[in-house]
Amino acid sequence: MLKTNVNLEEMSQKEAIDYLKESVQPEIGAIPAYLLGDPTVYDIEHKKVFLKTWLFVGHESEIPKKNDFITRDVAGYSVIISRGADGEIRGLYNMCTHRGMKLCRADAGNKTMFTCPYHGFNFKNNGDCVGVPLQKDIYGEDLDKSRLGLYKIRIESYKGLLFGTWNDEAEPLEEFLGEFKWYVDILAGRAEMEVLGPPQRFIIHSNWKIGADNFVGDSYHTMVTHGSIAKLGMVPSATYSKKGYQIYTDHGHGLNLGTPNPDFAFPEELREEYKSNLTEEQYEVLSNLKNMIGNIFPNLSFLISHTKVKGQLISNTSVRLWRPVGVDKMEVITWFLIEKNASEDWKRRSRESFVLTFSPSGIFEQDDTEVFTDITAAASGTMPLVKQLTFNYTMGLHRKPVEDFTGPGVAFDDKFTEANQRNFYRYWLDLMTK
Ligand code: FES
Ligand code: FE
Repeated sequence: MLKTNVNLEEMSQKEAIDYLKESVQPEIGAIPAYLLGDPTVYDIEHKKVFLKTWLFVGHESEIPKKNDFITRDVAGYSVIISRGADGEIRGLYNMCTHRGMKLCRADAGNKTMFTCPYHGFNFKNNGDCVGVPLQKDIYGEDLDKSRLGLYKIRIESYKGLLFGTWNDEAEPLEEFLGEFKWYVDILAGRAEMEVLGPPQRFIIHSNWKIGADNFVGDSYHTMVTHGSIAKLGMVPSATYSKKGYQIYTDHGHGLNLGTPNPDFAFPEELREEYKSNLTEEQYEVLSNLKNMIGNIFPNLSFLISHTKVKGQLISNTSVRLWRPVGVDKMEVITWFLIEKNASEDWKRRSRESFVLTFSPSGIFEQDDTEVFTDITAAASGTMPLVKQLTFNYTMGLHRKPVEDFTGPGVAFDDKFTEANQRNFYRYWLDLMTK
């Protein structure tokens, strides 16, 4: 139990940060409930986490052609992600430099030029301001359009996954991903991948960290929360989620590898493509994969899931963003990824398995959403007890990592441990208290 008389909302930011240092103790597996429901924590997170780190914005295949664009939210601010006439992908702050109007209100499209709906300034899709209505007449010779270009946000890409950050000081994306790239290669770089359809979006009443925590390390819930899946025969047994490895790397990233799997659940015809994109060790992992569930810090979770649909084992791959829109609310945005060169039949079956399991209407998704919203409700509000309770994250504290796992990072040889959640909160705390 924590102190009884603490009210973060009455503290200065410095005092609140000191209290975080004192009360959040990932090393001993003690994570307070108030982190999931306290508005002050949420405000500090916005500044210290979401305005500082790389955040996922989309997949390159969403803007395949010149002049394609999508608009996405990056830490609460709208950004136009545009592929210019030169093929380069840029991030433009979706705010007109004249008076601040939102320049583009569409989710996606193809445009060489954006015209502001307020006074009609024109901007090229590389951000240059190129047109001002009645310029000569009303400004004379004095207006320098070269100073009115749109503000650019840093966008970098790894294996087709696009990330943006408002932090000019942030390390390059590849450094931020670090050793975790080895696993991202399997997820998104094993073959030419593309997003099928627009991302699916829905709002749930949950703190964003519950989703990240669940995907980064909580294999333990599968046999209970998703027990009905085993009963339906879509997975082999209710304890199938224990076998495999839990692995974490620097910067709070982590994943769970379900293995072994006697059946290859990917398209047979792509074996050569996989081999040419992966190292031998990565290909070995892919060949034996039963599932792969993880989280790229802070809020991009991913999943390769295998299920039996109409008696046939098939994999589906998705990434999902837990986008915070309030302390107790997030938008879940899910992209379904697929091997571009797979047969149409395989693609159809993989999509069907995704829709049945992890799409917004899928049974796994529904199961998890119930849990996320109930936890958030119980950890929110001003009742003194919710400010004092600490959750137990001690599972696996007694275990040593294995030395002989083939991939990088710190690996444990079955998935029922909370090492990854402790690693997630360790890095979160580092950022929060910097
Ligand atoms: Fe955009 Fe004036 S605010 S043209
Ligand atoms: Fe789940």
